[in-house]
Amino acid sequence: MNIKSSKILILDYGSQYTQLIARRVRELDVYCEIYAWDADTAAIQAFDPQGIILSGGPESVHMENAPTLNEVVLQMNVPILGVCYGMQLLNQYYGGVVEGSEEKEFGYAEVHCTGESQLFKNVAKQSMDVWMSHGDKVKELASVFHPIAHTSSTPYAACEHKDLPIFGVQFHPEVEHTADGREILGQFVHHICGCEKLWKTDNIIDTHVDNIRNLVGDEKVLLGLSGGVDSSVVAALMHKAIGKQLVCVFVDTGLLRYQEGDQVMQTMADKMDINVIRVNAQQMYYDALQGEADPERKRKIIGELFIRIFEKQAKELDDIQWLAQGTIYPDVIESAASSTGKAHVIKSHHNVGGLPEDLSLKLIEPLKDLFKDEVRKLGVSLGLDPEMVYRHPFPGPGLGVRILGEVKKEYAETLAKADHIFIEELRRHDLYDKTSQAFAVFLPVKSVGVVGDARRYEYVITLRAVETIDFMTARWAHLPYEFIDLVSRRIINEIDKVSRVVYDVSSKPPATIEWE
Ligand code: XMP
Repeated sequence: MNIKSSKILILDYGSQYTQLIARRVRELDVYCEIYAWDADTAAIQAFDPQGIILSGGPESVHMENAPTLNEVVLQMNVPILGVCYGMQLLNQYYGGVVEGSEEKEFGYAEVHCTGESQLFKNVAKQSMDVWMSHGDKVKELASVFHPIAHTSSTPYAACEHKDLPIFGVQFHPEVEHTADGREILGQFVHHICGCEKLWKTDNIIDTHVDNIRNLVGDEKVLLGLSGGVDSSVVAALMHKAIGKQLVCVFVDTGLLRYQEGDQVMQTMADKMDINVIRVNAQQMYYDALQGEADPERKRKIIGELFIRIFEKQAKELDDIQWLAQGTIYPDVIESAASSTGKAHVIKSHHNVGGLPEDLSLKLIEPLKDLFKDEVRKLGVSLGLDPEMVYRHPFPGPGLGVRILGEVKKEYAETLAKADHIFIEELRRHDLYDKTSQAFAVFLPVKSVGVVGDARRYEYVITLRAVETIDFMTARWAHLPYEFIDLVSRRIINEIDKVSRVVYDVSSKPPATIEWE
């Protein structure tokens, strides 16, 4: 079975929601890919989709050099759905009038369906709550379209071509706030485009296992295991495909979460019987970081040391031909966008796990067509612990950027314990999944406290918890006072090296999520 045989192409006009459209289509069990709006005509034809979605975008169709519609989209004779900017482009192309506006309509709107439409067939109600985010709108509908929805301020909130399966929606069906968004996209993808539901976890695993076997044959693969979700899922998947031909190197940096090194070995080596070499490099890291207080230099030291240790291990192993990496689809999209200069936001985080360049190994990236939510589903299905797979993100440099200034063994051990208490209580109080990222930070300043009759002069721990969707902006989590009180008391009572606990009430921006 070719699970990519039924597929949708998404042309990206720069909307912050483009990846969300793709994730929604995948959730409908249909494969899709995102191409830039000005992708090569030949590439679009070669992809051979069963339907095309034109995303929204920040531009105005009137602007000089505004992104345009490649006519090949219309020549391919497949259904088209234009979302927001996509709908405006289609209207402009067919002779309608798009009105520029300084004012943005942003937020909920009530849309009233006007008459019959293929697109809204699955929507039972006459009116729906939708999410709007646009400045421009269609003022005069192109004559080939008829209107299928309006709001009180937007006469053409959706349209349908009179003869062809071409649709436009001014609102965003991909956003959670559009209550019927899934039904609308489902109707387009399954019924209008006729895509089959082939993109399912079990099929994805079977196909990837076959692909890995075909590619690797009887050669050996090396993988740097970090304890994070992506590399763990790569390990589980590769192990299913090639068993003991996979060799994992796990570097314990001494900057991991509480007892994480032992847990990785228990899950991967003991329970799943994966070939894992553990390198206890804690002291090497503390030595390398000694006296270094600058956050960026710390990140660099941690990243480079990882590569050195990993390379040394690799050279000691015989006949390895492949290097596996946990690259996922958003990384691919981001690096494609940054290489063409189209990225709106480029992250420059330096990660542990960078690619050693002179190992002269062939590269295999088995997750490179998957989104994070798909990687997680695969992980659970492959037998990884759901609690681990759905963990909050943890930065590559680990506790190294959560100990302010110089890193020391004593600080790292104290921080790991405090962090563990915080996370354990969040889980116990059913708050873990309500926060997007929560952790403790070590402040190397001493403050006075009294414990029993004794005076204590020890360090400060900060608790940090945020709620966010994209990690680009974040709100500090309004955790209950009683809960913070309990965590604070446990940390001070159970960890001698801490005399004071504080809670971080800064949002991003202006603060960042991490402290360094
Ligand atoms: P900031 O602190 O920039 O963090 O608001 C946003 C997200 O990125 C993570 N982060 C990192 N991840 N290497 C990583 O792999 C890093 O150096 C790094 N710094 C921050 C952070 O945990 C949050 O999820």
